[in-house]
Amino acid sequence: MNIIETHDLRKSFKSREGKGKGQLVEAVQGVSMKVEKGEIFGFLGPNGAGKTTTLRMLSTLLQPTSGEAKVVGFDLQTHAGKIREKIGYVSQAGGADTHSSAVENLMLQAQLYGMSKQNAKQRTDELIQTLQLDTFATRLAKTYSGGQKRRLDLALGMVNKPDLLFLDEPTTGLDPQSRAHLWEEVRKLRENGTTVFLTTHYLDEADALADRLAIMDGGKIVSEGTPNSLKQQIAGDVVTLGVIAQNGEKERAFSVLRSQTYVREILDGADAFQLYVERGEETLPAILRLMDSEGLKVSKVSLARPSLDDVFLRQTGRSLRETSAN
Ligand SMILES: Nc1ncnc2c1ncn2[C@@H]1O[C@H](COP(=O)(O)OP(=O)(O)O)[C@@H](O)[C@H]1O
Ligand SMILES: [Mg+2]
Repeated sequence: MNIIETHDLRKSFKSREGKGKGQLVEAVQGVSMKVEKGEIFGFLGPNGAGKTTTLRMLSTLLQPTSGEAKVVGFDLQTHAGKIREKIGYVSQAGGADTHSSAVENLMLQAQLYGMSKQNAKQRTDELIQTLQLDTFATRLAKTYSGGQKRRLDLALGMVNKPDLLFLDEPTTGLDPQSRAHLWEEVRKLRENGTTVFLTTHYLDEADALADRLAIMDGGKIVSEGTPNSLKQQIAGDVVTLGVIAQNGEKERAFSVLRSQTYVREILDGADAFQLYVERGEETLPAILRLMDSEGLKVSKVSLARPSLDDVFLRQTGRSLRETSAN
Protein backbone atom coordinates (compact mmCIF):
# COMPACT_ATOMS: atom_id res chain seq x y z
CA MET A 1 0.00 0.00 0.00
CA ASN A 2 1.20 3.50 -0.79
CA ILE A 3 1.19 5.82 2.19
CA ILE A 4 2.13 8.76 -0.04
CA GLU A 5 1.21 9.26 -3.67
CA THR A 6 1.82 12.50 -5.48
CA HIS A 7 1.07 13.59 -8.99
CA ASP A 8 2.80 16.57 -10.58
CA LEU A 9 3.14 18.47 -7.32
CA ARG A 10 4.39 22.03 -7.76
CA LYS A 11 5.20 25.03 -5.63
CA SER A 12 6.24 28.50 -6.72
CA PHE A 13 7.22 31.35 -4.44
CA LYS A 14 7.49 35.03 -5.12
CA SER A 15 11.08 35.75 -4.27
CA ARG A 16 11.32 38.23 -1.40
CA GLU A 17 14.97 39.14 -1.46
CA GLY A 18 17.94 39.86 -3.66
CA LYS A 19 18.22 40.83 -7.28
CA GLY A 20 15.34 38.66 -8.40
CA LYS A 21 12.90 40.21 -5.89
CA GLY A 22 9.32 39.71 -6.96
CA GLN A 23 10.22 37.02 -9.48
CA LEU A 24 8.73 33.59 -9.33
CA VAL A 25 10.91 30.83 -7.85
CA GLU A 26 9.77 27.39 -8.94
CA ALA A 27 10.92 25.52 -5.86
CA VAL A 28 9.17 22.24 -6.73
CA GLN A 29 8.60 21.55 -10.40
CA GLY A 30 6.31 18.57 -10.85
CA VAL A 31 7.07 15.85 -8.33
CA SER A 32 5.33 12.51 -8.87
CA MET A 33 6.21 9.69 -6.55
CA LYS A 34 5.00 6.86 -4.35
CA VAL A 35 6.12 5.92 -0.87
CA GLU A 36 5.20 2.49 0.44
CA LYS A 37 3.90 1.89 3.92
CA GLY A 38 6.62 0.72 6.30
CA GLU A 39 9.66 1.87 4.38
CA ILE A 40 12.28 4.49 5.06
CA PHE A 41 12.11 6.76 2.07
CA GLY A 42 14.91 9.26 1.51
CA PHE A 43 14.96 12.53 -0.37
CA LEU A 44 18.58 13.23 -1.30
CA GLY A 45 19.72 16.47 -2.86
CA PRO A 46 21.85 19.57 -2.48
CA ASN A 47 20.72 22.72 -0.68
CA GLY A 48 17.97 24.51 -2.55
CA ALA A 49 16.82 21.35 -4.36
CA GLY A 50 13.26 21.68 -3.04
CA LYS A 51 13.34 18.96 -0.38
CA THR A 52 11.96 21.02 2.52
CA THR A 53 9.30 22.61 0.33
CA THR A 54 8.07 19.17 -0.76
CA LEU A 55 8.08 17.93 2.82
CA ARG A 56 6.14 20.95 4.02
CA MET A 57 3.51 20.41 1.35
CA LEU A 58 3.13 16.72 2.18
CA SER A 59 2.81 17.48 5.87
CA THR A 60 0.04 20.03 5.16
CA LEU A 61 2.12 23.02 6.31
CA LEU A 62 2.25 24.57 2.85
CA GLN A 63 -0.40 24.73 0.16
CA PRO A 64 0.80 23.36 -3.21
CA THR A 65 0.55 25.70 -6.19
CA SER A 66 -0.79 22.80 -8.23
CA GLY A 67 -0.82 19.02 -8.40
CA GLU A 68 -2.31 16.28 -6.30
CA ALA A 69 -1.25 14.21 -3.36
CA LYS A 70 -2.66 11.52 -1.13
CA VAL A 71 -1.07 11.13 2.27
CA VAL A 72 -2.02 8.34 4.72
CA GLY A 73 -5.00 7.65 2.46
CA PHE A 74 -6.41 11.20 2.42
CA ASP A 75 -6.42 13.92 -0.18
CA LEU A 76 -4.05 16.73 0.68
CA GLN A 77 -6.35 19.46 -0.65
CA THR A 78 -9.53 18.36 1.07
CA HIS A 79 -8.53 16.42 4.21
CA ALA A 80 -5.53 18.17 5.71
CA GLY A 81 -6.94 17.77 9.23
CA LYS A 82 -7.25 13.98 8.89
CA ILE A 83 -3.69 13.79 7.60
CA ARG A 84 -2.36 15.83 10.51
CA GLU A 85 -3.76 13.35 13.02
CA LYS A 86 -1.72 10.54 11.51
CA ILE A 87 1.60 12.16 10.76
CA GLY A 88 4.52 13.57 12.70
CA TYR A 89 6.84 16.27 11.46
CA VAL A 90 10.30 17.22 12.66
CA SER A 91 11.56 20.36 10.98
CA GLN A 92 15.13 21.13 10.05
CA ALA A 93 15.43 23.40 13.09
CA GLY A 94 13.41 21.18 15.43
CA GLY A 95 10.34 22.13 17.39
CA ALA A 96 11.57 22.08 20.97
CA ASP A 97 11.24 25.10 23.22
CA THR A 98 14.79 25.36 24.52
CA HIS A 99 13.72 27.27 27.63
CA SER A 100 11.79 24.23 28.82
CA SER A 101 12.87 20.71 29.70
CA ALA A 102 12.20 17.59 27.62
CA VAL A 103 9.46 16.59 30.05
CA GLU A 104 7.76 19.99 29.76
CA ASN A 105 8.06 20.01 25.97
CA LEU A 106 6.60 16.53 25.65
CA MET A 107 3.77 17.16 28.16
CA LEU A 108 2.77 20.31 26.29
CA GLN A 109 2.86 18.60 22.89
CA ALA A 110 0.79 15.67 24.15
CA GLN A 111 -1.82 17.98 25.64
CA LEU A 112 -1.92 19.95 22.38
CA TYR A 113 -2.91 16.67 20.75
CA GLY A 114 -5.82 16.54 23.18
CA MET A 115 -4.52 13.99 25.66
CA SER A 116 -5.56 14.17 29.30
CA LYS A 117 -2.85 15.07 31.77
CA GLN A 118 -2.59 11.46 32.84
CA ASN A 119 -2.27 10.13 29.28
CA ALA A 120 0.18 12.88 28.43
CA LYS A 121 2.30 11.85 31.40
CA GLN A 122 2.23 8.24 30.31
CA ARG A 123 3.20 9.06 26.71
CA THR A 124 5.97 11.37 27.94
CA ASP A 125 7.41 8.59 30.11
CA GLU A 126 7.27 6.14 27.20
CA LEU A 127 9.11 8.49 24.88
CA ILE A 128 11.74 9.31 27.47
CA GLN A 129 12.37 5.57 27.78
CA THR A 130 12.33 4.85 24.05
CA LEU A 131 14.65 7.66 23.07
CA GLN A 132 16.80 7.41 26.18
CA LEU A 133 16.26 10.96 27.30
CA ASP A 134 16.15 10.03 31.01
CA THR A 135 19.54 11.42 32.08
CA PHE A 136 18.68 14.93 30.91
CA ALA A 137 14.88 14.96 30.69
CA THR A 138 14.32 17.51 33.46
CA ARG A 139 17.08 19.91 32.40
CA LEU A 140 16.33 22.90 30.14
CA ALA A 141 16.72 21.94 26.49
CA LYS A 142 19.13 24.79 25.88
CA THR A 143 21.74 22.85 27.88
CA TYR A 144 21.51 19.77 25.61
CA SER A 145 24.17 18.59 23.18
CA GLY A 146 23.24 18.57 19.49
CA GLY A 147 22.46 14.86 19.61
CA GLN A 148 20.35 15.12 22.78
CA LYS A 149 18.39 18.02 21.29
CA ARG A 150 17.73 16.08 18.09
CA ARG A 151 16.49 13.07 20.07
CA LEU A 152 14.02 15.35 21.86
CA ASP A 153 12.90 16.76 18.47
CA LEU A 154 12.33 13.20 17.31
CA ALA A 155 10.34 12.39 20.46
CA LEU A 156 8.17 15.47 19.88
CA GLY A 157 7.41 14.26 16.36
CA MET A 158 6.35 10.89 17.75
CA VAL A 159 3.97 12.06 20.50
CA ASN A 160 0.81 11.15 18.58
CA LYS A 161 2.19 7.72 17.50
CA PRO A 162 2.19 8.74 13.84
CA ASP A 163 1.88 6.20 11.02
CA LEU A 164 4.13 8.42 8.96
CA LEU A 165 6.96 10.56 10.28
CA PHE A 166 8.61 13.34 8.27
CA LEU A 167 12.18 14.15 9.26
CA ASP A 168 13.87 17.13 7.64
CA GLU A 169 17.66 16.74 7.72
CA PRO A 170 17.59 14.76 10.96
CA THR A 171 21.35 14.61 11.50
CA THR A 172 22.69 17.79 9.95
CA GLY A 173 25.42 19.23 12.13
CA LEU A 174 25.71 16.22 14.44
CA ASP A 175 28.94 14.43 15.29
CA PRO A 176 29.39 10.89 13.88
CA GLN A 177 28.46 9.14 17.12
CA SER A 178 25.21 11.08 17.57
CA ARG A 179 24.37 10.48 13.92
CA ALA A 180 24.83 6.72 14.34
CA HIS A 181 22.64 6.83 17.46
CA LEU A 182 19.90 8.71 15.61
CA TRP A 183 20.07 6.30 12.67
CA GLU A 184 19.40 3.49 15.12
CA GLU A 185 16.32 5.32 16.39
CA VAL A 186 15.04 5.76 12.86
CA ARG A 187 15.54 2.07 12.10
CA LYS A 188 13.67 1.18 15.31
CA LEU A 189 10.76 3.31 14.13
CA ARG A 190 10.60 1.29 10.93
CA GLU A 191 10.75 -1.97 12.90
CA ASN A 192 7.71 -0.79 14.82
CA GLY A 193 5.81 -0.16 11.60
CA THR A 194 6.24 3.58 11.21
CA THR A 195 6.91 4.87 7.72
CA VAL A 196 9.73 7.41 7.71
CA PHE A 197 10.20 10.06 5.03
CA LEU A 198 13.47 11.88 5.53
CA THR A 199 15.47 14.43 3.63
CA THR A 200 19.22 14.61 3.66
CA HIS A 201 22.11 16.07 1.74
CA TYR A 202 24.44 13.38 3.12
CA LEU A 203 25.21 10.60 0.65
CA ASP A 204 26.18 8.16 3.38
CA GLU A 205 22.96 8.82 5.29
CA ALA A 206 20.78 8.12 2.26
CA ASP A 207 22.82 5.03 1.51
CA ALA A 208 22.74 3.68 5.06
CA LEU A 209 19.15 4.45 6.00
CA ALA A 210 16.87 4.61 3.01
CA ASP A 211 15.12 1.52 1.64
CA ARG A 212 14.31 3.61 -1.39
CA LEU A 213 15.25 7.11 -2.31
CA ALA A 214 14.64 9.87 -4.78
CA ILE A 215 17.48 12.13 -5.82
CA MET A 216 16.29 15.70 -6.17
CA ASP A 217 17.88 18.62 -7.94
CA GLY A 218 16.50 21.95 -9.09
CA GLY A 219 12.96 21.14 -7.94
CA LYS A 220 12.79 17.84 -9.82
CA ILE A 221 13.34 14.18 -9.08
CA VAL A 222 16.24 13.14 -11.28
CA SER A 223 16.48 9.50 -10.19
CA GLU A 224 14.59 7.07 -7.99
CA GLY A 225 15.09 3.55 -6.63
CA THR A 226 16.86 1.52 -3.97
CA PRO A 227 20.37 2.79 -3.21
CA ASN A 228 21.80 -0.33 -4.85
CA SER A 229 19.63 -0.20 -7.96
CA LEU A 230 20.50 3.46 -8.46
CA LYS A 231 24.18 2.69 -8.25
CA GLN A 232 23.88 -0.30 -10.58
CA GLN A 233 22.14 1.78 -13.25
CA ILE A 234 25.34 3.68 -13.57
CA ALA A 235 28.17 1.40 -14.45
CA GLY A 236 27.67 -1.92 -12.72
CA ASP A 237 30.46 -2.81 -10.33
CA VAL A 238 34.16 -2.30 -10.66
CA VAL A 239 36.58 -5.21 -10.21
CA THR A 240 40.25 -4.35 -9.86
CA LEU A 241 42.41 -7.31 -10.82
CA GLY A 242 46.19 -7.62 -10.77
CA VAL A 243 47.85 -10.49 -12.67
CA ILE A 244 51.43 -11.65 -12.11
CA ALA A 245 53.06 -11.16 -15.49
CA GLN A 246 56.42 -12.29 -16.81
CA ASN A 247 56.09 -13.62 -20.34
CA GLY A 248 53.04 -12.18 -21.99
CA GLU A 249 50.62 -13.24 -19.24
CA LYS A 250 49.17 -9.78 -19.08
CA GLU A 251 48.23 -9.72 -22.75
CA ARG A 252 46.77 -13.21 -22.46
CA ALA A 253 44.72 -12.22 -19.39
CA PHE A 254 43.49 -9.11 -21.17
CA SER A 255 42.30 -11.04 -24.19
CA VAL A 256 40.49 -13.80 -22.25
CA LEU A 257 38.84 -11.30 -19.96
CA ARG A 258 37.73 -9.10 -22.82
CA SER A 259 35.93 -12.01 -24.47
CA GLN A 260 33.75 -12.73 -21.41
CA THR A 261 30.16 -11.61 -21.86
CA TYR A 262 29.91 -10.35 -18.27
CA VAL A 263 32.72 -7.86 -18.84
CA ARG A 264 31.26 -4.62 -20.16
CA GLU A 265 34.44 -2.72 -20.36
CA ILE A 266 38.05 -3.36 -19.45
CA LEU A 267 40.74 -0.79 -18.79
CA ASP A 268 44.41 -1.76 -18.68
CA GLY A 269 45.97 0.16 -15.81
CA ALA A 270 49.64 0.26 -14.88
CA ASP A 271 49.54 -2.58 -12.38
CA ALA A 272 45.98 -3.88 -12.61
CA PHE A 273 42.94 -4.20 -14.85
CA GLN A 274 39.72 -2.32 -14.11
CA LEU A 275 36.78 -4.44 -15.15
CA TYR A 276 33.27 -2.99 -15.37
CA VAL A 277 30.87 -5.84 -14.75
CA GLU A 278 27.15 -6.35 -14.14
CA ARG A 279 26.93 -8.11 -10.78
CA GLY A 280 30.28 -7.98 -9.10
CA GLU A 281 29.54 -10.41 -6.31
CA GLU A 282 28.71 -13.14 -8.84
CA THR A 283 31.25 -12.16 -11.45
CA LEU A 284 34.24 -11.98 -9.13
CA PRO A 285 34.37 -15.76 -8.41
CA ALA A 286 33.93 -16.46 -12.13
CA ILE A 287 36.87 -14.21 -12.94
CA LEU A 288 39.03 -15.95 -10.37
CA ARG A 289 38.08 -19.40 -11.73
CA LEU A 290 38.85 -18.23 -15.24
CA MET A 291 42.28 -16.99 -14.25
CA ASP A 292 42.94 -20.29 -12.49
CA SER A 293 41.90 -22.41 -15.45
CA GLU A 294 44.12 -20.33 -17.74
CA GLY A 295 47.07 -20.83 -15.39
CA LEU A 296 47.25 -17.10 -14.64
CA LYS A 297 48.22 -15.99 -11.13
CA VAL A 298 46.26 -13.23 -9.49
CA SER A 299 48.29 -10.81 -7.38
CA LYS A 300 45.41 -8.75 -6.05
CA VAL A 301 41.70 -8.33 -6.44
CA SER A 302 39.03 -5.98 -5.12
CA LEU A 303 35.40 -5.16 -5.78
CA ALA A 304 33.85 -1.70 -5.55
CA ARG A 305 30.46 -0.23 -6.20
CA PRO A 306 29.84 3.16 -7.75
CA SER A 307 28.61 5.65 -5.14
CA LEU A 308 25.40 7.67 -5.05
CA ASP A 309 27.57 10.62 -5.91
CA ASP A 310 28.37 8.90 -9.24
CA VAL A 311 24.61 8.63 -9.80
CA PHE A 312 24.10 12.31 -9.11
CA LEU A 313 27.07 13.21 -11.30
CA ARG A 314 25.69 11.17 -14.17
CA GLN A 315 22.24 12.79 -13.85
CA THR A 316 23.23 16.40 -13.36
CA GLY A 317 26.81 16.76 -14.55
CA ARG A 318 27.81 17.99 -11.08
CA SER A 319 28.99 16.27 -7.95
CA LEU A 320 26.71 16.34 -4.91
CA ARG A 321 29.80 16.79 -2.74
CA GLU A 322 30.51 20.12 -4.42
CA THR A 323 26.94 21.41 -4.56
CA SER A 324 25.98 20.71 -0.95
CA ALA A 325 29.08 21.98 0.78
CA ASN A 326 27.95 23.94 3.80
N1 LIG B 1 9.14 30.89 1.55
C1 LIG B 1 9.93 30.99 0.48
N2 LIG B 1 9.93 32.11 -0.28
C2 LIG B 1 10.72 32.20 -1.38
N3 LIG B 1 11.53 31.22 -1.81
C3 LIG B 1 11.58 30.08 -1.10
C4 LIG B 1 10.79 29.91 0.09
N4 LIG B 1 11.04 28.67 0.59
C5 LIG B 1 11.96 28.11 -0.23
N5 LIG B 1 12.27 28.94 -1.25
C6 LIG B 1 13.22 28.66 -2.35
O1 LIG B 1 12.84 27.43 -2.94
C7 LIG B 1 13.99 26.65 -3.29
C8 LIG B 1 13.95 25.30 -2.60
O2 LIG B 1 14.14 25.48 -1.21
P1 LIG B 1 14.04 24.27 -0.16
O3 LIG B 1 12.80 23.50 -0.40
O4 LIG B 1 14.22 24.85 1.18
O5 LIG B 1 15.30 23.37 -0.57
P2 LIG B 1 16.11 22.26 0.25
O6 LIG B 1 15.32 21.90 1.45
O7 LIG B 1 16.28 21.14 -0.71
O8 LIG B 1 17.43 22.88 0.61
C9 LIG B 1 15.18 27.51 -2.92
O9 LIG B 1 15.59 28.21 -4.07
C10 LIG B 1 14.63 28.44 -1.87
O10 LIG B 1 15.35 29.64 -1.83
MG1 LIG C 1 15.84 21.91 3.42
